[in-house]
Amino acid sequence: MKIRVFFACLLLLAAAPVFLAAQDASSPALKPIINHFAARNFAAGAVTRAELDLIIQAAIRAPSASNRQPWHFTVVQNQDLAKQIVPQVVDGNVLIVISARGDGKTNGVQILDCALAAQSVYLAAQALGLGSRIYTGPIDALNRNLKSQLGIPADQNAVVLVRVGRLPAGTDAVSSASARNPADSLVTYK
Ligand SMILES: Cc1cc2nc3c(=O)[nH]c(=O)nc-3n(C[C@H](O)[C@H](O)[C@H](O)COP(=O)(O)O)c2cc1C
Repeated sequence: MKIRVFFACLLLLAAAPVFLAAQDASSPALKPIINHFAARNFAAGAVTRAELDLIIQAAIRAPSASNRQPWHFTVVQNQDLAKQIVPQVVDGNVLIVISARGDGKTNGVQILDCALAAQSVYLAAQALGLGSRIYTGPIDALNRNLKSQLGIPADQNAVVLVRVGRLPAGTDAVSSASARNPADSLVTYK
């Protein structure tokens, strides 16, 4: 009996760093949520189909209101089309356009759902060592001019897109992310 208690204590002691680590900003689960950055520069180079499949797997796991999963993902690999949407794209960049029913402006809950899926695309790409950036600027023009060319379902409109691509060597969150406002200026605890 004493031996069992001894080994149980030993096990708890061995596991303690894992529990402690989970509560600090260096926790493996928190790190990618805190250390992401919107890539400004991309390097030429293809994003593989395996990488895209993993990114889409992450995207379709996003939460949505009543689990309605209102989204459609249009993966734009065609470089001519991609350049028409985001003129700065470099060779190999992929645009993942997320659309939902409604006009993309007044369908509030669907917009939130698409935003969460976009965040998952953005973070999944970075988890794979790729660069990513969320865009809404090109959305109006895309809906006006390119919807049918992109094959976006006729009853849907694009809400947001994420640009994914390879990063130049040496790019990281420390050198790339902009500063954030301090928590004490943003948060009220009651
Ligand atoms: C909803 C949303 C829309 C955005 N739209 C654009 C855009 O149209 N063009 C652009 O260059 N960046 C766009 N961004 C990227 C932001 O500018 C970027 O995430 C922010 O400046 C933080 O940058 P950082 O991660 O490098 O600190 C968008 C980001 C979000 C979340």
